[in-house]
Amino acid sequence: MPMCMDLQPGGIPMPLAETPREAAQMRWTKPFKPKAGPRYIQIAEMLAESIQSGILQDGEQIPPQRALAAHLGVDLTTVTRAYAEARDRGLIASYSGRGSFILGARETPTLAGIDLTMNIPPQPANGSMAQRVSAGLEQVLQRNRIEVLSPYQDEPTTRSLLQAAQGWLKPALGDLDSRSLAVCSGSQAAIFAILSAHARAGDAILCDPLTYPGLLLAARQLGLLIVAVASDADGMRPDDLEQACQESGARLLYLNPTFHNPTAHTMPAARRQAIAEVLLKRGITLIEDDPYRYLLDDAPAPIACLTGGANTYYLASLSKCLWPSLRTAFVLPPRGDDGQGLLKGLRASSMGCSALLLALVDQWIRSGTARELVQEIQREARARQHLARTLLSHEFQAHPTGLHLWLQLPAHWHQERFTQALEDVGVSVAGADSFSVATQGPDAVRISLGGAPDQALLGQALRKVEGLLKEDRRRGGRAFV
Ligand SMILES: Cc1ncc(COP(=O)(O)O)c(C=O)c1O
Repeated sequence: MPMCMDLQPGGIPMPLAETPREAAQMRWTKPFKPKAGPRYIQIAEMLAESIQSGILQDGEQIPPQRALAAHLGVDLTTVTRAYAEARDRGLIASYSGRGSFILGARETPTLAGIDLTMNIPPQPANGSMAQRVSAGLEQVLQRNRIEVLSPYQDEPTTRSLLQAAQGWLKPALGDLDSRSLAVCSGSQAAIFAILSAHARAGDAILCDPLTYPGLLLAARQLGLLIVAVASDADGMRPDDLEQACQESGARLLYLNPTFHNPTAHTMPAARRQAIAEVLLKRGITLIEDDPYRYLLDDAPAPIACLTGGANTYYLASLSKCLWPSLRTAFVLPPRGDDGQGLLKGLRASSMGCSALLLALVDQWIRSGTARELVQEIQREARARQHLARTLLSHEFQAHPTGLHLWLQLPAHWHQERFTQALEDVGVSVAGADSFSVATQGPDAVRISLGGAPDQALLGQALRKVEGLLKEDRRRGGRAFV
């Protein structure tokens, strides 16, 4: 390791005696840029860029930390942090006694079947999820007699949980009368029950041209006519909504206006207002499905607030911001609706929620665990979105703390061929057809970043996506037009 340093013109300290091997290992380094953020981040960025541009190859060894610190003229701790950051981003793997390597299929556990089709929250990186579930259940069992946790929960739930739900929803909906709230075993169950209560086979339901597949599934199951309403850059167009109401006679509208599944779009406040006005004018009922809001710190007010609660079922699932296994969603029925139609539908399909899981929800909200978990999931989601921005050179739509991204494929890729080609290399993503009211969707895919067990495997999966996009570009569209 060179001890003696000199400065080269770019300001990067130059070791006086570097072996050719060491010099080759340093070839991806660059001078630090002034005011471009902490140096450890800059080193991680250099690694990311060099992998992206092909300067560094899968499996290649990078310098020992001390050698790199000497080469760059920084403290060892700066390089230690940089390598930790690079590991978090899935760029490198480090092995005790062997060193650090650019992450590739040869150097990582396995890429067999990484499923990025499911929109689930990522496990917090600190591995705290299992501990929180276990601690929460222990407290639930200490505080509740088993008899209380055993029966069916088909009636409005405990006063304690309703008050907890009221507090949970307050930042989004303001002060609520908890008596009006319903608790359902997930938003999907609520959607099915609401559709059953409000529509008969052959009735129309309005929604976006691309929408949550669970809505399509429920509506098709009930024999409803699904009518797509055109949208523009701000989301559903109010004039087209009015026209669709007139032409189809629909009394029901489904929207997922915050961090839309699948396009990751959030409807701005002005458009929400315009949609609310159409709802009130036409007297149609909105199902406002809002599971992702609780991960976003900058979402506009729900449409339910703009209608004063009239004509709107507001659905707040805990699946995306806490844990899908809770199977819990809070539902605020339209003002003046006693929620009996909804409860009847829920009772007919599932006999309500699990008392044990509801007690866990209550415990998590009251103890502050739920809020902490949201923050941990946001942190992990942010890191994963950052990883995607680093590894994917194509434009995509996403939110910095969102769970998925929406990627328009280059013109020469058809979505079906793309998803199949990705499957062949062990990565599953959801093609646009799964979300489309029309039989064929656009050539785009939704990539759910929470599906990978950790950032390293996500990094590998995303590199496969990037490789495939590039590979096809190199074919110039010949093979796939
Ligand atoms: C928009 C939307 N609504 C509802 C759900 C399902 O919610 P739950 O788990 O509460 O049934 C999903 C899951 O992907 C979703 O994306």
